[in-house]
Amino acid sequence: MTSKEIIPQMTLEEKAALCSGRDFWSLKGIERFGLEAIMVTDGPHGLRKQGGDGDHLGLNQSVPATCFPAACATACSFDRSLLEEIGAAMGEECRKEKVAVLLGPAANIKRSPLCGRNFEYISEDPFLTGEIAAALIKGVQKLGVGTSLKHYAVNNQEKRRMTINAVVDERAFREIYLAGFEKAVREAKPWTLMCSYNKINGTYASENKKLLTDILRDEWAYQGLVMTDWGASNNRLEGIKAGLDLQMPGPDADNDKRIIEAVKSGALSIEDLDKVVARVVDLIIKAGEGDSIGFACDMEAHHLLARRAAAESAVLLKNDENILPLVPGKTLAVIGAFAISPRYQGAGSSKINPSHLDKAFDAIMRTGIKAEYAPGYSLEAGSGVNEKLIAEAAKLAGEKDSAVVFAGLPDEYESEGFDRASMDMSESHNKLIEAVAKANPNTVVVLQLGSPVALPWADKVKGILLLYLSGQAGGGAAADLLTGNACPGGKLAETWPLALEDNPSYGNFPGSTKTVEYRESIFAGYRWYDALEKEVRYPFGFGLSYTSFEYSDLKLGTSAEAKDNFKKGDALKVSFTVKNTGSREGSETAQLYIAPDASVLFRAKKELKGFEKLHLKPGESKTVTLILDERSFAYYNVQAKDWSLEGGLYRILIGASSRDIRLEGKLELTGDKRETAFAFLKGGRPVFDDASFKAIYGAELPPKERLPGEPFTVNTSVEEIKDTPIGKALFGMAVQGLEQAFGKEKSDLKVMMESMLMDMPLRGLGMMSGGRLTPPVIEALVEALNGKPNPIASGLLGMK
Ligand code: BGC
Repeated sequence: MTSKEIIPQMTLEEKAALCSGRDFWSLKGIERFGLEAIMVTDGPHGLRKQGGDGDHLGLNQSVPATCFPAACATACSFDRSLLEEIGAAMGEECRKEKVAVLLGPAANIKRSPLCGRNFEYISEDPFLTGEIAAALIKGVQKLGVGTSLKHYAVNNQEKRRMTINAVVDERAFREIYLAGFEKAVREAKPWTLMCSYNKINGTYASENKKLLTDILRDEWAYQGLVMTDWGASNNRLEGIKAGLDLQMPGPDADNDKRIIEAVKSGALSIEDLDKVVARVVDLIIKAGEGDSIGFACDMEAHHLLARRAAAESAVLLKNDENILPLVPGKTLAVIGAFAISPRYQGAGSSKINPSHLDKAFDAIMRTGIKAEYAPGYSLEAGSGVNEKLIAEAAKLAGEKDSAVVFAGLPDEYESEGFDRASMDMSESHNKLIEAVAKANPNTVVVLQLGSPVALPWADKVKGILLLYLSGQAGGGAAADLLTGNACPGGKLAETWPLALEDNPSYGNFPGSTKTVEYRESIFAGYRWYDALEKEVRYPFGFGLSYTSFEYSDLKLGTSAEAKDNFKKGDALKVSFTVKNTGSREGSETAQLYIAPDASVLFRAKKELKGFEKLHLKPGESKTVTLILDERSFAYYNVQAKDWSLEGGLYRILIGASSRDIRLEGKLELTGDKRETAFAFLKGGRPVFDDASFKAIYGAELPPKERLPGEPFTVNTSVEEIKDTPIGKALFGMAVQGLEQAFGKEKSDLKVMMESMLMDMPLRGLGMMSGGRLTPPVIEALVEALNGKPNPIASGLLGMK
């Protein structure tokens, strides 16, 4: 049966019920139509299917699955086919576990290095984000399993993620924060999208018609389903009208009732309801079709794929005097507890129960290298600098030919649910590296972390190998890379600034109680550092290799300069040759940037518009052909409400990184003469002041803080009422709930949940309280907070 046949036969009650999930991880079915309940689970870099029946927070132990490198790592591979392979492997694991939809990939832009969830995100660049997300989606979906592209949209911080109003101008919205989603939607057609918690320019994503219907469906022709992030539904009726299909988790009897009453009273049209119900029914039907696709799930093969992926994703940041690969026969000190207990994935909803776990030290020993180990620091949370462990490690390092220090960020530094406070690594890691480097001049640091950090010791070590969070086989991959069994070929998917103050969001991250202003507009990541000509630690697209590459023969169309004007509807072939000029096999990512020469608009100096990952034997060369189309050159024209071409001269840059341009061509472009009026650059640099931000935002800026006397609402956060008697009682109840779920001792999950709790709007507490705080109870509490005592609130205050 199809949804067209089913919907007319459904009762209003059945329709309302389908608008929310069955429980934490599944959608309801309807037996009489043969619709079975289907399961959706996290994502994004492996399967996190909870064993048993799950719990009300959905955080208990999950079934063993392959933990692939997180997106922060795989993005650096710039390798579409690798991402598709990983996607297919995850698809197989989903099929094995009867999971219909994997909740990922996450295509949010890395706006600040501090975002606690950057490890799950792909890049600061929307083109790369879209390409990597699309490849992963294609891989999963070819197994007949759906994906959920998330968190749509402008969710680039954890602080107050459930209520913050992201104030972003239309060009930044379209060109930076939506463009990755757009590419992935258009090219890979994810079965589902997950809307984010936050507001965008005043309206919650979950009831934002512009986002969910006008742009997503009308402009991008999206046919799939949109679900909420877990607990992101604010006003369910507004959600349905805006095009929000499924509320997760569920069930939600109160909303069912509201939907039924609204249809009966005419406040909600049955057509709007039928549209969202049809999309839920279509998803369930589609999930059933997957059963006819054959699959084999070889967990050993997936582990090997995870190892190859980790090696392909690692970025060699420094290699003075070719300290790497390590010379066979020499002695080695392996230092740092991460060499034995790796940091290989991030904390929060993406945390996987790995099927295996490689230890770098063991893997190094298996290569025959004569190595000895010293921990150097303790892994206990908050343990601080341990001078004794540092002294032991430095002593060991002094006795060996070289030293490799495994260091980075422990779990308590970065997680879903909270942002980092600074870019610093812990003192215990920094001091250890300094001490080891002093004891042994041949020191290499291997970094395990999810986001850029300050590297105060960078000049004192000879090598730096960045693994990011490299998944369950990262230890094996580290050994492969250190010994030269694999050649590093990863390139940075984000800029590593020298200091936090250099980052474009600095001063406007994570914003105020109510809003976060995206004052840097389109100048995210390298667009900003380039505009200000700022020195950075490592530029976007940067990564070294054990071999070398030469670029030549750039042709635009048929010559180095495209003499014919490029205009609307054209496509331009860009070709060039890359040769491996070194003595070993390796890979290189050639990057194509467009650079408008004399723009009258505010535009980035260069923008990534193409790339190709090449695997080359010594002496081998390959010709790369990339296609640029109209959209490659376009900017979003706010006045015309459309993409426009700005006429003039463009340079086509081919680089080994964003700051290592090897070839350059020129192109004359005919514009369509619909240009936005104002410039926002003064002296060639972006400015941040109120007047210019207001001008590009195109409206008054909303208040940043709660106004004096402003009434409390269901969207007031727990933090805002924490000192009131009601706030204290609620917080106590929630903490009790957390302790029941995780025990009294501090686990990373509990820390994350406590922090999320503080930022949570009152309406979100139902999910945390296991259903005790129903919407009518919350509404009564809000009334009481606003000075109208009532029996429900008084009853709660009396509760222990
Ligand atoms: C996260 C989502 C996740 C969902 C279900 C939310 O807190 O933001 O990314 O898919 O929980 O675990």
